[in-house]
Amino acid sequence: MTDTSSMKLTKIPRHVAVIMDGNGRWAREQNLSRIDGHKKGSEVARQIVSKCNELGIEYLTLYAFSSENWRRSPNEVSGLMELLQHYLETEAESLNNDNVRLRIIGERQMLPNNILRLVEAVELMTKDNTGITLLMALSYGSRAEITHATREIAQKVRDHRLTLEEISEETISQHLYTHDIPDPDVLIRTSGEQRISNYLLWQLAYTELVFVDTYWPDFTPEEFVQTLLEYQERERRFGTAA
Ligand code: IPE
Ligand code: IPE
Ligand code: MG
Repeated sequence: MTDTSSMKLTKIPRHVAVIMDGNGRWAREQNLSRIDGHKKGSEVARQIVSKCNELGIEYLTLYAFSSENWRRSPNEVSGLMELLQHYLETEAESLNNDNVRLRIIGERQMLPNNILRLVEAVELMTKDNTGITLLMALSYGSRAEITHATREIAQKVRDHRLTLEEISEETISQHLYTHDIPDPDVLIRTSGEQRISNYLLWQLAYTELVFVDTYWPDFTPEEFVQTLLEYQERERRFGTAA
């Protein structure tokens, strides 16, 4: 990482995407349960949301639970669902007071009924808020999202609502969960893993990737700002000559 200690944050990204990884390894190192790691992780998420809001970032997408995470032990999955329920119940009011608009992306029908109802209630309550949009990726998998979009497009062609020639990159973007959201400017993944893990594959085409070694439960708003400073130093070319 560049030494960013004396730099000032002058370029605020519009959209930050985060893979909050390392809760389990953090917990193991502290001799705690994986769920304790997720608990600490959810507190960090709260702090990062509030930092983003304060910085004037327009969109924050947090990877909270992937389509593949359903394959974890029933104990861990139910612990995560309980935590999520707790987060939504205890945070809804304060998210709303902070003018945050909450949206969920992912396979909603996979979520337990009580969680889905809660999610929809918070989305409804916050839908007209004008502060940061917090996108929570829940039961989210990018391949599933693209598959779903492809089916919808094919259906429209079959129903003669769209012709083959009309299908463009824009058509695909418009059928993703993120149809009204700009692509992320920067992706941050914690815990030292350098992979995408089925996250926003289409949307990340020209996103700057920043990988940090810190486990998510140890990640702080200060280190978050450091990663934005690193992003600020990158030269984005979008395929043009250097
Ligand atoms: C990220 O932490 C949170 C979720 C995937 C729900 P992990 O649970 O993946 O933690 P590690 O990667 O096993 O340390
Ligand atoms: C990605 O992390 C999903 C979330 C952070 C919610 P994982 O820990 O599930 O990803 P892999 O298995 O290391 O690729
Ligand atoms: Mg992990």
